[in-house]
Order: sequence, then structure tokens, then C-alpha cells
Amino acid sequence: MSDRSLAREALQPKSFVFDKENAAWAKTRIALYPKGRQQSAVIPLLMRVQDQENWISRAAIEKIADMLKMPYIRVLEVATFYTQFQLKPVGTRAHIQVCGTTPCMLRGAEDLRAVCQKKINANAHQTNANGTLSWEEVECLGACVNAPMVAIRHDTYEDLTPERLEEIIDEFEAGRGDKVKTGPQNGRDFSAPITGQTTLLDLPQIKIKPNGAAKPAAKKQTPKKSVAKPSVVKKQPAKQPATGKPAKGALFVAPSGAADDLKMISGVGPVLEKKLNAFGVTQFKQVAKFTKKEIVDLDDALSFKGRIDRDEWVKQAKALAIGPDEYFKVFGKTPSVKKASVKTPSVKKSK
Ligand code: FES
Repeated sequence: MSDRSLAREALQPKSFVFDKENAAWAKTRIALYPKGRQQSAVIPLLMRVQDQENWISRAAIEKIADMLKMPYIRVLEVATFYTQFQLKPVGTRAHIQVCGTTPCMLRGAEDLRAVCQKKINANAHQTNANGTLSWEEVECLGACVNAPMVAIRHDTYEDLTPERLEEIIDEFEAGRGDKVKTGPQNGRDFSAPITGQTTLLDLPQIKIKPNGAAKPAAKKQTPKKSVAKPSVVKKQPAKQPATGKPAKGALFVAPSGAADDLKMISGVGPVLEKKLNAFGVTQFKQVAKFTKKEIVDLDDALSFKGRIDRDEWVKQAKALAIGPDEYFKVFGKTPSVKKASVKTPSVKKSK
């Protein structure tokens, strides 16, 4: 059971005010609730206090109570009930919450706790010498499949080793916490198996009917026994005239040589790959050399509105042109391997 008492008097500030931006945000947030239900904003407001100050003081609790016309005790009850609210000052650069519940404990949470004790403070809820870091042990944070893990502010860092946690702590201490990759730290794709996706490999395309209802897939899934490490598969070269000019309807001259599996670029599916091939785009090295103008032209042709840049096609293609290992090195995950789409059978309308 964690200690949920307020910080001692000497640590309590005399008053609390939201800064200008947060005050405007709070006003808007309170106005979202129906008349007479403004007290429902208590948790978002307390969380905003914590985002601003790193912890929640008594002055802040009283301020929120005044804003929402609530008795102080009611806000105090909320703040002391939910353990995501820090009631004592924490590290100014990071407060590390180490999950110590069974799955994480079985996968090495005790070693992570030892790292925090060594690098921050032997005791939980106490900062390091310069007040920049602190830690605590918490109960399950809901990322058990990627155990062991820690949470820092609003992000989680999963599939941790003690060495990786040390690196992460060093980055936060150096003020570069916002640059640290969040989520799995071992290349796992979200909570997919570490060996790669093993199910839903031939998921048919779902067509959305005009009324928004999805047309059900007709093809049964075939379970796969194992997934081979993805490799860059060469396909038949796209047919292009040997004129040095793009084929009719194409934007690019397809290079000679076999076409790459463009579906390995995250964001490119079977349908999009076909379109790209029709535009004369067939190889990773070609995408890797896209100029700004070519990106704009292709974006326009595909009505993408900047998606090529957003999905980092050029960066992905550069890595894929070297190989899946390079992709893993750059993106921390294996490139996706997608099957060609399975046509959804058309459904006849009954009269
Ligand atoms: S047990 Fe650690 S996240 Fe669930």
C-alpha cells in the first residue's frame, strides 16, 4: 500500500496558479461539461496541474476545488485515491515508475528497480542529489505482454533490460528525454510476437459501404506455423518501353531489373503497390532517391496530402535498399511483410 499523504508542510508552496496556456485550457475543459456537472473536470484539471508542476500540492488541490466549486475534501479524496497523482515533489526531468507486478517481476523488474536505486536514490520517492530524477514501484501499468516496463510521465518504455534502462535514465538526465524511443525497446512491433506477425497475414481488404458498415471478409484465415525472417524479395520487372521516357500514364521511368516488394514500406499495401508500379515506381533505390518535386507530384497523383513524407518512405526505402537488418537498425523493428490482397467477393443485393 503506497503512502498517499500530502507532502510535509515545509515542501508545500503558499499558492498555485495555472500558467496562461493552462488557464485557457482549463477554462475550455470545464466548459465541455453540461451545466451543473463542472465537477467532472476534476481529474483532467488535477492531471494538468501535475503536467505543469510535476506534482500536486495542497494549494493546487484547493485552487481546483475553488475553480469547480467543490469542497476541498472532495478534491483531496480524488487526488489521494489515484496513484497516478504525485503528492510529493518528484524529479524535474523524470519520475520513473517501475512496474513490480507479477509478469514484470518474473521478467526482471527487480533488476530495473536495482538500476533506479543505483542511479537515482536508494529509496523510492526521493530524488537524486540535484533533484532531477526520482523513482517508485507501482502496480501493473497494463503493458504486461511487453514486460518488464517502466512509465515516465505519459509514456511507457517496454521490453527493458537493465542496460537499456540505464541508457534511458541517462538521456532524461541529460535533458534529452523527449528524444528517447517510447514503447518496446527490443524491436518488437507494439505487442506483436517478437518473431514477427504470425496471424492475420492474409486478411482480405475490408470495403466500407456508404453507410459506414464494413463488408465482412469472406476468406478464412489460414494459420501459419512459423514466420521466416523477412527478406527483400525480387519480383518480375515492370514492363516499360526502352525509350527513357515514362510509359503512358506513368510518372517515372521504371528502372531495369527486378521489382522490389514495395509493400515492405510501412504505409504501402497491395493496392498502393500496384498503383506505384503503374506510375513506374518499382524499386526501393528509386524511392530512396525521390526529389522534393517527385514527392509532390506523386503525392498529388495519389491524393496523399503529404503522406509520403509523413510515413518517411524515402528513409524507409533507403534502409530497405540495403536490407531488412538495416531497416531494423534504423527503425527498431522488422519491415512489414504483407500478402497480396484477397478480393472480397461481391454481395448481390436481394430485391
Ligand atoms: S505486470 Fe507490469 S505492466 Fe502489467
